[in-house]
Amino acid sequence: MQRILFSDTTIDERRWDLRIAGGRIVARIERSEGRLEPEAGEEIVSGGSLTPHLAEPHVHLDAALLGQRAPNRSGTLREGIRNWATLRESLTEADLIARGLRTAQMYTSWGTTRIRTHVDTGNLLAVQTLLALKEELAGRGITLQVVAFPQEGILRAPGRRAAWEQAVALGCDAVGAIPHLERTTEEGWRSVRLAFELAEAHGVAVDLHCDETDDPQSRNLEVVCAEALDRGFSGRVVAGHCTALHSYPNPHAAKVIELVAASGVQVVCNPLDNVVLQGRYDDYPRRRGLTRVDELWEAGACVGIGHDSVQDPWYRLGTASLLDAAYMLLHVGHLTGEDQMRRVFRTLHQDNHLPFGGPPELSPDQPARVLWWPHADAIELLRERPRPRVFGLPEAP
Ligand code: FE2
Repeated sequence: MQRILFSDTTIDERRWDLRIAGGRIVARIERSEGRLEPEAGEEIVSGGSLTPHLAEPHVHLDAALLGQRAPNRSGTLREGIRNWATLRESLTEADLIARGLRTAQMYTSWGTTRIRTHVDTGNLLAVQTLLALKEELAGRGITLQVVAFPQEGILRAPGRRAAWEQAVALGCDAVGAIPHLERTTEEGWRSVRLAFELAEAHGVAVDLHCDETDDPQSRNLEVVCAEALDRGFSGRVVAGHCTALHSYPNPHAAKVIELVAASGVQVVCNPLDNVVLQGRYDDYPRRRGLTRVDELWEAGACVGIGHDSVQDPWYRLGTASLLDAAYMLLHVGHLTGEDQMRRVFRTLHQDNHLPFGGPPELSPDQPARVLWWPHADAIELLRERPRPRVFGLPEAP
């Protein structure tokens, strides 16, 4: 059984000795208080830092690794949606499983073992297959959550709402929606309310693609927050993207951000996709297309960082390393203050876990699901973006 002493390692910017044995954390002591002496037969890992495993709050496994099959010539969101609509028709169970497993392996190699995927409810085979993949991944130490995501809306065409409802009934963990893509502002708001009703009926969470547009008139986030407050959904709602917030007039943005903080809705920023997909209707100057992470933090709101695309029709460059998403965010979001950079890194192993019930603790008796990083300083980790050593996964079959 693996016994390891992490000697003089950094956890939360303080120095510790920590021992794992038999798959659990068995002891730890802060260096200022003392130290753990090495034991016979024990591997010693010196220096660096330890964190919990990372969590991915927003990806699309049904579309992952498909970018090459239908090249996006323009690099735009609209062509990505068109290409996906074609690809979606030819999905098979074997292909979905193979790509899902491959992408999950990519995530684990970068230290991420909790993954929330959206699945397009326009293909119920994909929904069933990703729900089946949950079981397979659980055996490999990976938690998969599935969000029923109606890529083309639920009110724009007959049958879409029924398919979405059917997908949720199959056992999804959360109800998705895409209100800014519905035909009218009113129908967008209606889709938000229908999503909450459906989530209430099934006792599941809500996770919407919300205002993923540069249109400053796209006003769904405030409706999501109001519904979350009125229905007592605090802590069970994620609003993904929220890029329109970038373009709101400042007084309105301030009001919405206050509401986000009060409602407990978590905003998940997807910087890799949005920095290239947004701003496409702009001449110069071109907007950055990311939500207002600095202002959300300042108001006390909760923010997550997602990868969104792993080589899919929208973004071919995804690696499944959340450090890449973090690196992009701190550049484009002007988050290069020392504390801001450390907070960006911490988000990956703390706030990103909120959709999964909260971050794991690195304390005695907890499972030894830890990552060891070669640097003590989070800023160095963001600079180099190395692979961590991953502990706590079952042996490969
Ligand atoms: Fe997405």
